[in-house]
Amino acid sequence: MSYALLVPVLRALLGSTPADAVPWLVAFGSAVALYAVLRYISDLSGMRVGTTMLRGTYHRLGEHLARLPLGWYNAARIGEVSALAGRGLLQAMGVAAHLLAPFIAALVTPLTIVAVMTAFNWRMGLAALLAAPVVAAIQAWTARATATADADRHERDQEAGGRVIEEGQRLAVVGPSGAGKSTLLQLLARFYDVDAGAVRVGGVDVRQISTETLMARIAIVFHEVYLFDGTIEENVRLGRPDAGVAEMRAAATAARLDEVIERLPGGWAANVGEGGALLSGGERQRVSIARALLKNAPIVLLDEVTSALDPVNEAAVHEGVQRLMAGRTVVMVAHRMRTVRRADRIVFLDGGRIVEEGSHDELLDRGGRYAGFWNISMASAARE
Ligand SMILES: Nc1ncnc2c1ncn2[C@@H]1O[C@H](COP(=O)(O)OP(=O)(O)OP(=O)(O)O)[C@@H](O)[C@H]1O
Ligand SMILES: [Mg+2]
Repeated sequence: MSYALLVPVLRALLGSTPADAVPWLVAFGSAVALYAVLRYISDLSGMRVGTTMLRGTYHRLGEHLARLPLGWYNAARIGEVSALAGRGLLQAMGVAAHLLAPFIAALVTPLTIVAVMTAFNWRMGLAALLAAPVVAAIQAWTARATATADADRHERDQEAGGRVIEEGQRLAVVGPSGAGKSTLLQLLARFYDVDAGAVRVGGVDVRQISTETLMARIAIVFHEVYLFDGTIEENVRLGRPDAGVAEMRAAATAARLDEVIERLPGGWAANVGEGGALLSGGERQRVSIARALLKNAPIVLLDEVTSALDPVNEAAVHEGVQRLMAGRTVVMVAHRMRTVRRADRIVFLDGGRIVEEGSHDELLDRGGRYAGFWNISMASAARE
C-alpha cells in the first residue's frame, strides 16, 4: 500500500500544485507506520515458530539417534552429532525466525506491484501477471524432476534385496574364517547398517523398525558372548526383565545352565565377572542360550562357537541350541556340519559374498565349494 501511495505523492509533488501532496503524504506516513507495527508482530511470531520448530526437531533427532545401530557411534560421529545438535539446529530455526518475514514479503510484494500497475496502467499489470505462471511452471518442473529421481532410487533399493529365508525356516551360513558370517548376523541385528542394499525382516527394512520392536523379535546367541558384570540371575533375566522365577528356572534347565548354577558357589547369585570372564566359554554360551530361551523371540540369530568345547559342554550347548531353534525362524552360523545339514537352506559365504546357495543335497550334487567343505569335515571326523 505504501508503494501504491508513492505514485500520487510523486505526481502531486512533481505536478503544478505541490500542496496537493499533503493529504497523500499523511496517508503514506500512516501506511508506513502501520507496516512497522505489522512487521514487529510478524517478526515476533516468526521467532515463536522457530522456537516451536526447534523443540520438535530436537525431539525427532533424539528419537532418530535412539534408533541408530550401536556400531554407528564412533568418535567422529559423536562429534558430528553434537555439532549438528548445537549449531545446525539453531541455523535451521533461524530459517523460520529470520526468513519467514522475507518469504511473506517476497510473496506479497510482487502481488502488490501487479495490483498497483493494473490500477494505473492495465497493460503493464497484465504483462506482469502473465509472467507469473511461467515462473511457477519452471519451479514445478524442477521440483518434479527431483522427486522422480528420488522415487527411482527408492524403487531400485526395493528391488535389490530378494527374500532369503521364509518364516519358520532355518538358514545356515557356512564359509571360511573371515568370510563375513558373523558380520551378516550383526547386520541382521542392526549392530551395523548396510552401505548398499537393505536388510529386511518380515519385508520391512530394519532401519524402519524401532529398536525396541526389532530387539523384541530377535534373540541373539553370538560366539563372543558378552555378559554384564553381575550375577547369573541378572544376566539371564535380561532376556525378559518381567519374567517370573519359574520361567527363569525352566529356561536355565532347557539351556542346561542348571548344572552350572549347582556347581558354582552362590548359585544363581554367583558373579560372572566383567564380560563373563569368571565363566568358561561353554558356560557363557549356556547363559546366553538361557537368556534367549527366556526371551522367546520368533527369530533366533545364532553364531556357533568356533573353538572346540569339551564334550560335556559341547553336548549341553547343542541340546540347548536344539531347544532354542524349535518352532522359530533361525539364521545360524554353523561350524558343526551335522547342524548345517539339517538346515532348510544353506548359503556359502566367501569374501563377503554369497557364492553358493541351496539345500544340503543340492549343494553336494553341485560339487562346488560347499561339497568341498563337507568332504573335508567328513574326512576329519572319520580320522578321529
Ligand atoms: N570395519 C571393517 N571394514 C571392513 N572389513 C572389516 C571391518 N571389520 C572387520 N572386517 C573384516 O571383515 C571380515 C569378516 O569378518 P567376520 O567376523 O564376519 O568373519 P566370520 O566369517 O564370522 O569368521 P569366523 O568364522 O572366523 O568367525 C574379516 O576379514 C574382518 O577382518
Ligand atoms: Mg564369526
